[in-house]
Formats: sequence, C-alpha cells, structure tokens
Amino acid sequence: MTTSKKLKWALGGGFALAAAWAWADGPLIPAQVLPLYKQECAACHTAYPPGMLPAASWQRIMTGLDRHYGSDASLEPAQVQQVSAWLQAHAGTYKRVREEPPEDRLTRAAWFARKHREVDVAVWKRASVKSPAQCSACHAQADQGRFDERQVRIPR
Ligand code: HEC
Ligand code: HEC
Repeated sequence: MTTSKKLKWALGGGFALAAAWAWADGPLIPAQVLPLYKQECAACHTAYPPGMLPAASWQRIMTGLDRHYGSDASLEPAQVQQVSAWLQAHAGTYKRVREEPPEDRLTRAAWFARKHREVDVAVWKRASVKSPAQCSACHAQADQGRFDERQVRIPR
C-alpha cells in the first residue's frame, strides 16, 4: 500500500460513509450513495462502487439492463436516467480503472486480479461464494464500499 493510500484509510476512519469510498485513489466520492442505486442495483449482488468501472462501461451496462448478464434488470426510463447520471458522475475514480474490462466486469479488470491473486481458483466456485461478483461473500461491508483487507473473511 502506498503512503498516500494508507493516509487515506487513516483519514477515512472517522467519516463512516464517506470513508467507505476512501480506498479509491481519487477525490473522496459519494458521501451519499444514491438511494435508488442501493435499492435497485444491490438486489442481486453488491452495490459496486461506481469508481471501480470507467464511465464507458457503466454507460453500456445502463443501456442494456434488459439483457444484463443473463438477467433482466430493467428499470423505468426515469430511473435509468437517474442511476446513469450518478454512476457517470462517480465513474472511474480508482486510478487504474480507465481500462474497460471484458464484458464490463470489474471482476475481470487487471486490478481485481492483482488484488485477489492469493485467492485460490477453487474458492471462487464454493457454494458459499458463488462467483467473484458476490463481493459480500468475503467482504462483509462491501455494500458500504469497504474492502479493507483486514476485514476479509473467506467462507468455507
Ligand atoms: C435481477 C438481478 C440483477 C439486478 C437487479 C442487477 N443486476 Fe447486475 N448482475 C446480475 C447478475 C446475475 C450478474 C452476473 C453475476 C455473476 O457473474 O456472478 C450481474 C453483474 C453485474 C456487473 C458485473 C459484475 C462483475 O462480474 O464484475 C455489474 C457492474 C452490474 N451487475 C451492475 C448492475 C447495476 C448498475 C444494476 C442496477 C441498474 C444492476 N447490476 C442490477 C444481476 C442483477
Ligand atoms: C472469495 C472471497 C472474495 C470475494 C468474493 C471478493 N474478494 Fe476482494 N479480496 C479477497 C481477499 C482474500 C482479499 C485480500 C488479499 C490480501 O490479503 O491482500 C481481497 C482484497 C480486495 C481488495 C483490496 C483491499 C485492500 O485493502 O487493498 C479490493 C479493493 C477488493 N478485494 C474488492 C473486491 C470486490 C469489488 C469484489 C466483488 C466484485 C471482491 N473483492 C470479491 C477476497 C474476496
């Protein structure tokens, strides 16, 4: 971890929700997570931090919600607009996410592989994990945007 990152973690400690996004190497983003995002985009998986994907990836995801990774995640046009605007405003703040990963999956980004290189391939397939996209299987506070390695617990 770089010194500036450590400092951000330390500084973040006192700010609850704001701190939740402090791992992103950029400005401290969403002090407030859009309620609609929490409501609609965390029903089937973690509310992924918008800073973990670049704007172009979010754009594609939000224009194809009816065929969303094998699911139908459609929303009303007005809701799509609201969520899109929020995602665009906070996209790609983590320094290495200019890269548009395959299938617009943050789990296929280079940084994701690097952060998880110690996780055995078989672990991702455990029934208790299901897939790398289920961040909260191992990061209990993923929905608050917290991925601190001290809080990681891999389920059996
Ligand atoms: C009806 C369920 C459902 C809803 C609602 C839903 N998703 Fe998903 N989403 C999925 C499934 C299923 C996957 C694939 C997960 C996997 O591979 O294990 C996925 C994957 C993703 C991924 C890629 C994760 C990865 O592998 O890196 C992103 C990003 C994403 N969803 C964003 C959103 C956003 C933004 C919304 C709200 C507009 C949303 N999702 C709403 C079901 C849903
Ligand atoms: C099978 C369990 C597991 C799942 C599922 C998982 N992770 Fe992790 N993650 C880990 C482990 C273990 C580490 C810590 C590796 C280490 O000790 O450096 C980690 C580390 C991280 C880190 C680095 C934290 C730091 O302090 O540097 C980030 C960021 C992260 N994960 C994000 C995610 C996101 C986003 C998802 C979901 C899309 C996810 N992880 C899904 C196990 C998991």
